[in-house]
Amino acid sequence: MTPEHIELVKSTVPVLRENGVALTKYFYNRMLTNNPDLKNIFNMDHQSSGRQPRALAGAVLAYAEHIEDPSSLARVLDHIGNKHVSLDIQADQYSIVGENLLHSISEVLNVPFESDLIAAWKEAYLQLAAILIDIEKKKYDNLVALDGGWAGWRAFEISAIEEVEEGKKFTLKPQDGNAIPASEPKYYISVKVQVPNHEIQQPQQFAFTEAQQGSDYQIVVKPEKEPTEFSVANILLDHYKVGDTVQVTAPLIG
Ligand code: HEM
Repeated sequence: MTPEHIELVKSTVPVLRENGVALTKYFYNRMLTNNPDLKNIFNMDHQSSGRQPRALAGAVLAYAEHIEDPSSLARVLDHIGNKHVSLDIQADQYSIVGENLLHSISEVLNVPFESDLIAAWKEAYLQLAAILIDIEKKKYDNLVALDGGWAGWRAFEISAIEEVEEGKKFTLKPQDGNAIPASEPKYYISVKVQVPNHEIQQPQQFAFTEAQQGSDYQIVVKPEKEPTEFSVANILLDHYKVGDTVQVTAPLIG
């Protein structure tokens, strides 16, 4: 990026931060309206609470602030990478997010899309996207290299459901009968379920509470305090039974 572009980007971060809610609302509405498929991976619960919208756009703004030394954000980017890999986010989806984000910045700042400012933001976004795509590629490769490892979604059957104090313990067995990687507490898997009465699926992360060393994984599912019809935990608790199938991604550290 040229020094002028860096200056342009940095000088608009405060305005975008002040209008953070408008930016993220506009961004998500635009993106999910134009790409309804993404409703299968973004958590619709988080959308309504506004939590995730703030996280994604907030990370882009934080990156823009540190654009001259992005290495200071290495830990944050590693954490985002784990979350993305746990949701099977792919490199080609970055252009969808980028286009919608740039249109939203243009809207919130009230500047034409074809302007120097948006061109500068585009470079900043592409730089960040390239870093994340690279981090995520390495993570997918590492997962595949594990004993029993895999990348993306894999079908698991619910082989047992047991009542426990906080909710229910689900035992999940890979449908292909092959090995799965051992894991430890604090590592999490994403579990994707079909939402009743809606044509969409929803994923959620569940952290292990115990070491996982066998041919299945065990997760404790607790009911949400204020569930919506998209709450994965409540869907599992209320609608899923032994023998049903869910989609699962490989364990990653939280
Ligand atoms: C430069 C681009 C991106 C940045 C900076 C970014 C940043 C983030 C951040 C900060 C989070 C929250 C992490 C957490 O909860 O711990 C997140 C979650 C997520 N991101 Fe990204 N992201 C980017 C691109 C993408 C792309 C291309 C996709 C795929 C379309 C995507 C899909 C998601 C999803 C589905 C979640 C989880 C949201 C939820 O729980 O509903 N992100 N991202």
